[in-house]
Amino acid sequence: MYSRIAGTGSYLPDQVVTNFDLEKRMDTTDEWIRTRTGIERRHLAAPGQTTVDMAEHAARRAIEAAGVTPAEIDFIVFGTTTPDLVFPNCGTLLQARLGARGCPAFSVETACSGFIYALSIADKFVKAGEAKCALVVGAETLSRITDWNDRNTAVLFGDGAGALVLKPTAEAGILSTHLHSDGEYKDLLYVESGVSRGFEVDPATNKVNIGIKMAGSEVFKVAVTKLGAAVDEALAANGLEKSAVDWLIPHQANIRIIGAMAKRLDLPMEKVILTVQDHGNTSAASVPLALDTGVRDGRIKRGDLLLLEAFGGGFTWGSALVRF
Ligand code: ACO
Repeated sequence: MYSRIAGTGSYLPDQVVTNFDLEKRMDTTDEWIRTRTGIERRHLAAPGQTTVDMAEHAARRAIEAAGVTPAEIDFIVFGTTTPDLVFPNCGTLLQARLGARGCPAFSVETACSGFIYALSIADKFVKAGEAKCALVVGAETLSRITDWNDRNTAVLFGDGAGALVLKPTAEAGILSTHLHSDGEYKDLLYVESGVSRGFEVDPATNKVNIGIKMAGSEVFKVAVTKLGAAVDEALAANGLEKSAVDWLIPHQANIRIIGAMAKRLDLPMEKVILTVQDHGNTSAASVPLALDTGVRDGRIKRGDLLLLEAFGGGFTWGSALVRF
């Protein structure tokens, strides 16, 4: 038994902030952001709009595309680092919205790799016969943990959600997933506040001090190395050559990292689903956003071989090789 992707969905909030808008708020330029990252605009959640609000839109679209009803969902795994509440977890909150009562529902907190981790877990439950209609979600409101006074990071992130439905199948859909993490790199990309550690209040603004801290060029170097090894690992595990890959669906953090992965696979950029320009780094939402974009605009077709990869804080990283 295998699992296959039965339907995909995604959602971006209405508010669009372009690089030119950011030029007015901080010492940056459209040219710097575009050439360093490929990002042109990002979407930000409306005041009061939460991670689960966005995830619900994406999930309903994926459920509709899969031709199932919300009540048929029997497993929910939700990748996010920006949960609505401390608990219940986002998976369970989403479950209540969908009315898929009683099935397992939970979140995984592995930053930008959250969706790949979630997909890997759901795949194993479907393969084991314990889930027949699994909902896999990646959604984030990164704008809420972005330090808007730090141009090094503020220009990079955005909000959004993506989802897919996995169903059992006799022929291989998800061929393999590979997950990795290495906590020794924690100081290169992190948020220094948390429930247990505590939140500091900035006396100047009287606001809680919560913001992403990143050693950008160090993250860049490790990401290229680890992701390069991850794509090699995915192909080797399946005895496949680079030429077998139809589409690379990478984590949408930086066009230069994505370009390095395409080069490693000898893939022209036309065979990469690129959405970073439209929404920036949406962490766990970025891979399913790109996947849904490629599916809905007709580029990704049934039978195509997809290589999904992501890298994020921790560091955590991983891949999924998928026959769509
Ligand atoms: N506008 C203008 N100038 C800026 C900006 C900005 N927004 N931000 C930084 N600069 C300046 C810096 O101050 C520096 O100036 P200096 O040379 O006078 O000191 C200069 O630009 C170069 O800065 P670098 O950090 O060396 O720029 P770099 O080319 O490395 O690009 C970037 C920075 C885009 C962050 C890149 O390193 C990167 O993409 N890293 C990887 C990020 C990533 O992939 N993260 C993935 C995981 S994210 C997650 O898990 C949440």
